[in-house]
Amino acid sequence: MLGSVILLWIGFGLLFLLFRTRRPKNFPPGPRPVPIFGNLLQLNMANPLNDLRKLSERYGKVYSIYIGSMPAVVLNGLQAMKEALVTQSVEFAGRPEDLMVNHLSESKGIVLTNGAMWKEHRRFALTTLRNFGLGKRSMEERILGEISYIASHLENNAGKAIDSQILFHTASFNIICTVLFGTRYKHEDEFLQSTIRRITEITKILNGPWSMIYEMLPVLRHLPLPFQKAFQNVNMVRKSLADQVSQHKESWVPGEPRDLTDCYLDEMDKRGDDGSSFNEKQQIIYLLDLLFAGTDTTANTLLTAFLYLMTHPDVQERCQKEIDEVLGEKEQASYEDRHKMPYTQAMIHEAQRVADTVPLSVFHTTTKDTRLMGYHIPKGTVIIPNLSSVLSEESQWKFPKEFNPSNFLNDQGEFVKPEAFMPFSTGSRVCLGEGLARMELFLILVTLLRRFKFVWPEDGGVPDYTLIYGLTQTPKPYRLGVRLRDS
Ligand code: HEM
Repeated sequence: MLGSVILLWIGFGLLFLLFRTRRPKNFPPGPRPVPIFGNLLQLNMANPLNDLRKLSERYGKVYSIYIGSMPAVVLNGLQAMKEALVTQSVEFAGRPEDLMVNHLSESKGIVLTNGAMWKEHRRFALTTLRNFGLGKRSMEERILGEISYIASHLENNAGKAIDSQILFHTASFNIICTVLFGTRYKHEDEFLQSTIRRITEITKILNGPWSMIYEMLPVLRHLPLPFQKAFQNVNMVRKSLADQVSQHKESWVPGEPRDLTDCYLDEMDKRGDDGSSFNEKQQIIYLLDLLFAGTDTTANTLLTAFLYLMTHPDVQERCQKEIDEVLGEKEQASYEDRHKMPYTQAMIHEAQRVADTVPLSVFHTTTKDTRLMGYHIPKGTVIIPNLSSVLSEESQWKFPKEFNPSNFLNDQGEFVKPEAFMPFSTGSRVCLGEGLARMELFLILVTLLRRFKFVWPEDGGVPDYTLIYGLTQTPKPYRLGVRLRDS
């Protein structure tokens, strides 16, 4: 009996030693971690943002927490974010390499890669997106093409209240698909339905307790536990993307790209076997990354924008007045028109600020030993940029706690963009779809506000602005009341 008690204690002792956490010297301060869990039990994992804010009040703008036995530094507020991600953009440009997301993507693609693979693919993606006149159809035309489908759906449903989630997810998915594959999909299409469903399921698992267990207890990783569902879903999406690429190859004419898939085939063709990171396997994850990064983010931002427009009719009417004045007889807005629409621009930026779409950004790591605000941060430390803390930082905004386009207007009514506006993050890892996303948001909002009035449905209950926390945040589901403006 005594023997088993001693053995049990030795077992606990070994486990304790195994998962013991000790902050490196002069590392940012933070709450005391417990073995195995680190600080995870002290955070509300369903939505840790409030707890992270309280820790910042106690430990300062740069503090550390333990995710299991892994130390991570949390950056809060504009100054810390700039000193790390901008002033030391190279030192803070890494990505973690042993999280569940890395295993899902096999550390390929863009979002989760490091070194030459990341640099080559980021440069390639930025260039192809920027030059995306691609001879025939400009990016703007592609977006306007998709908007015409949204508009006709709204026209057919004028006078009713419709499901806003499906509408904006389908639109964002289709816009990124026209860029990647040169095609859009009908709402009932199997590829569209299954891919959006799978992306949602993967995101749900990544946000949930099973991904925490995966991170904390690597011995469990091969067991048939619910996190395996995420791997199955990724494999299914990869398979559909591989089919898309095969179909492309059948009609691909080298040097005459129709879309980003063709651009990638051209690039592989050009590079041949030069040892670069462009290859068929990498292409699939590259496409997956862009599809993943470009769907939920834009859709959830639009959902927030329309929620506030419906419930702030004064803001909606002021935008419509400005849009009418600027467009005059012109049927369709162009992206250039944004310079003449300061109030509408302010409204869109304010919607992005309160949408707080990617609250904790994508985790970074340090690429070498460095210092930040007096603290020592060793190479390979996980960095959590709390973008949410900057978008609501009291000292940076005139009205940090309310939806108010005046946050982006000066005394003369001109549009100004404060430095603290960083929903796309900042520095060398800044969102590479920023240009596309901004164009989408402007053209969709302006075109729809020109033709429709959006009203909160009479039976919609009290509007709830609480965001559902996740890798990307989203408002609670609501229905969009649509009226034709000239009726
Ligand atoms: C990265 C936000 C739309 C592609 C990011 C990051 C944020 C972000 C916060 C992390 C940056 C960092 O690690 O510091 C958003 C928001 C969007 C949006 C709020 C819409 C409103 C898009 C679109 C695309 C895209 C449409 C597709 C073209 C990417 C990629 C990365 C990224 C590829 C990884 C960049 C890298 O690691 O170098 N985005 N994004 N995003 N985004 Fe976006």
